[in-house]
Amino acid sequence: MQPWWRDAVIYQIYPRSFADTNGDGIGDLQGILDRLEYLEWLGVDCLWLTPIYPSPMADFSYDVANYTDVEPLFGDLQLFDRLLAEVHERGMRLILDWVPNHTSIKHPWFEQARSSRTNPYRDFYVWRDGAGPGIPPNNWVRAWANEPAWTYDASTDQWYLHCFLPEQPDLNWANPAVRAAMHDTLRFWLDRGVDGFRMDVIHLLAKDPNFTDDPEDLKVLSHVVLNHQDGIHELLKGIRNVVKDYEGDPMMVGEVYLIDAPLVATYYGDGDELDLAFNFEPMFRPWRAEAWREIVNRVIENHDHRDAWPTWVLNNHDAPRIASRLRSAERVAAAAVLLLTLRGTPFLFQGEELGLENAVLGDGEVIDPGFRDGARAPIPWDATPTHGWTSAAWMAFPPDASDKSVAVERNDPQSMLSMYRAVLELRKGSVALKSGDFRWVTSDDRVLAYERVNGQEVLRILINFSHDAVEVSDRGHLLFSTGRDHRDGFDGHLRPDEAVILAV
Ligand code: NOJ
Ligand code: CA
Repeated sequence: MQPWWRDAVIYQIYPRSFADTNGDGIGDLQGILDRLEYLEWLGVDCLWLTPIYPSPMADFSYDVANYTDVEPLFGDLQLFDRLLAEVHERGMRLILDWVPNHTSIKHPWFEQARSSRTNPYRDFYVWRDGAGPGIPPNNWVRAWANEPAWTYDASTDQWYLHCFLPEQPDLNWANPAVRAAMHDTLRFWLDRGVDGFRMDVIHLLAKDPNFTDDPEDLKVLSHVVLNHQDGIHELLKGIRNVVKDYEGDPMMVGEVYLIDAPLVATYYGDGDELDLAFNFEPMFRPWRAEAWREIVNRVIENHDHRDAWPTWVLNNHDAPRIASRLRSAERVAAAAVLLLTLRGTPFLFQGEELGLENAVLGDGEVIDPGFRDGARAPIPWDATPTHGWTSAAWMAFPPDASDKSVAVERNDPQSMLSMYRAVLELRKGSVALKSGDFRWVTSDDRVLAYERVNGQEVLRILINFSHDAVEVSDRGHLLFSTGRDHRDGFDGHLRPDEAVILAV
């Protein structure tokens, strides 16, 4: 038996933009609860909620002011418990986003820490003397701006580290009290019955004890992507001990934002660290068969030898949506087939199944300090002027919001939504697709061709990366095609941009 998270399809919810029920234009937990029927119908197995904790929202809840409560805009603990129970009732699972690297400046720990150098919480964070008056301790650069990763605190005359915004001070995981306190935050949610965690920028927890400058030639990059330290492995084992102490095999998927697939793979340890790690290299590959052949091989090489199970991601709340990147509905559909048939755990981001593009914002409308608003636009639920939101939503809808709304696409057997649902259903019924072996098949250069195999069950997937019609010698019983006029047989003619799944 595979662990559940190897078979699961995970659906990321960005609560603020999912569904609003109290008319303030901001999505909430009740909105998720009300839409569980949709998610169950769609056929996903596990929901990942981006942070729902109380937060001043400098980075939309990735600046946590309290790890053991719910942001009032979203609801409260009681409502959370109801949501979790209902998710379980419907046979799905739910994981939370755990933000262990930094808190909000409004977290009581930080308020204590900055109050004096001798406060017991001082060492919960990373404080250093400047390299000189007005000069930060080292050259580390924070995310999203070419600015120091340090902010000077005049009242105690020291600098604190923040790999992200000055409103997000980094915790000091070298301090055993921090480890204990953060382990407790995991227990708090595990006691309530959550099925695991997505662990935010988990590679940042171990810091260079010497605070060495980053190499000058790499200083255009933020310290976030440069920060790997071997000490992380010990920390991950400690976190795992807490999580795996619970029944039901709670899952740990880490965001390891290092641009280095072999290094990311080490975060699985020997099966004693992360269960899964995000792997963002494929997300930014150009849509070309040879580029994907190469990246799939790279993932296989780096994972297989340590029995590490890959993850596949085309969209999330930090990146432009794939529909905006590929600019072709046919290609987006083909990419979905790829995502759901490669060997590994696929992650979907809300609205991906609708083929949503990024919202287009004017200069004055950009709110996110990391400029990621476009992908975070509200979900259009129907074709009414407010698209199923009780009032104006907190930000603009994506383009073609009526045509791409849930209500419209649900009624259209040719829609992106119907396509996603069909492939998800096929996947659910196929051990080969969920956990079977992977092998390449020789085909036309413009086509990515591979098989998923479980004993007698052999599925062949053909993805035509070109805008040309391509003749192939592959034959088999057609189980699925993205080609709208191509549903009742496969004779070797691949349409432009078409993806097919054959039983052979
Ligand atoms: C990664 C999250 O995905 C991103 O949205 C957030 O801004 C940073 N971590 C900081 O927590
Ligand atoms: Ca609301």
